[in-house]
Amino acid sequence: MKYTYTIALVAVIAACSSRPADHELATSIARGLAAACPLGSDTADEAARNDCAGNLTELAVLRDAMREPFLWGGQAAGAGYRLDTSTNKFNARVWRRMYLSTYMFGTDFAVEQIADTTVLHVPVTFRGTMPIGAYPYPFWHSAKKWDSYNYATTVHFIIQNGEVVGALRSADQDTTRPKTAHAWDGLWQWEQGGTQMPYVSLYDYLLSKDNPYTAHLDESYRALEARMRQNNCQACHAPDNQGMSAQLEFFVYPNQALAGRHDIITQLVKNEMPPRGNVLGLTPGITDDAERGLLTGLARDFEAAGDQALAWEGDNKVEFKYPDPQTPQ
Ligand code: HEC
Repeated sequence: MKYTYTIALVAVIAACSSRPADHELATSIARGLAAACPLGSDTADEAARNDCAGNLTELAVLRDAMREPFLWGGQAAGAGYRLDTSTNKFNARVWRRMYLSTYMFGTDFAVEQIADTTVLHVPVTFRGTMPIGAYPYPFWHSAKKWDSYNYATTVHFIIQNGEVVGALRSADQDTTRPKTAHAWDGLWQWEQGGTQMPYVSLYDYLLSKDNPYTAHLDESYRALEARMRQNNCQACHAPDNQGMSAQLEFFVYPNQALAGRHDIITQLVKNEMPPRGNVLGLTPGITDDAERGLLTGLARDFEAAGDQALAWEGDNKVEFKYPDPQTPQ
């Protein structure tokens, strides 16, 4: 009898203490970040970036708490810490390794409680002078985006009930920071010395050297990507977000496409993509059933290969289901 009572009491205490636990989680993450990617003066140093990427990939306190898929974007001024719009969905490993590692972290962090949300504010310095293939994609395709990466003073991590749901580059910007000028030639991809660029967007960069599934994952992505291109999917599912998705998934790069590997199938089965009903005044979906079947088959291969490669790394988490995306009217 006494035993049952004790268990009930423990459960109540656990429920009440969720915020202190999130506060503790935030503190551990902040310390982990500063140790993984300490502030250095050289923002061009690719070796330091790669060390940082390796450390962040394995940073257990962050890895184990991240929601899959993870939301990332630029904070809109005056919009608080909302993540439901103007964000991208990423596989958590992809985000830690190739996006978060473009920053170095200061030790002067702060933790703030806003209703049921814990916000961790981490001071950052952007690695702004690396070779262009070291960035996940040409951020400078948009002046606003390149400013946001270079000038953001802080990355805000949004934590709820023990889970890091997403992160935002601060609307607070220091425009006195240096910024390298780049011209964008309109290409998302290019080649340099026989390597596809950006090199950080390739599975070779994402996965361990001895992951036995890398080549198969790459083949299944290439096959799907080529077929999606014939169906114009990439016109909207690219970083410039021509379809104005609220929570964009983009398919033009191998690593970034992993976040969409389950959703692609759902969308093809429902046959709601491309959303022509709104955009072109035509019936949405793919009208040729054989074509849709073929594309769905390739999407299933890619999903299975992605699951396998990520599971080998211990990074194939069960996906959180966001509400169905709404096509903007
Ligand atoms: C004309 C632009 C456009 C085209 C072309 C297009 N999409 Fe979309 N797609 C959208 C929009 C808009 C959404 C809704 C997302 C939202 O509101 O957040 C979406 C949502 C999705 C989603 C849900 C995941 C997400 O991004 O939240 C998937 C998966 C998807 N599309 C796959 C495809 C595939 C596969 C094709 C090609 C057969 C395709 N799309 C073609 C605009 C487009």
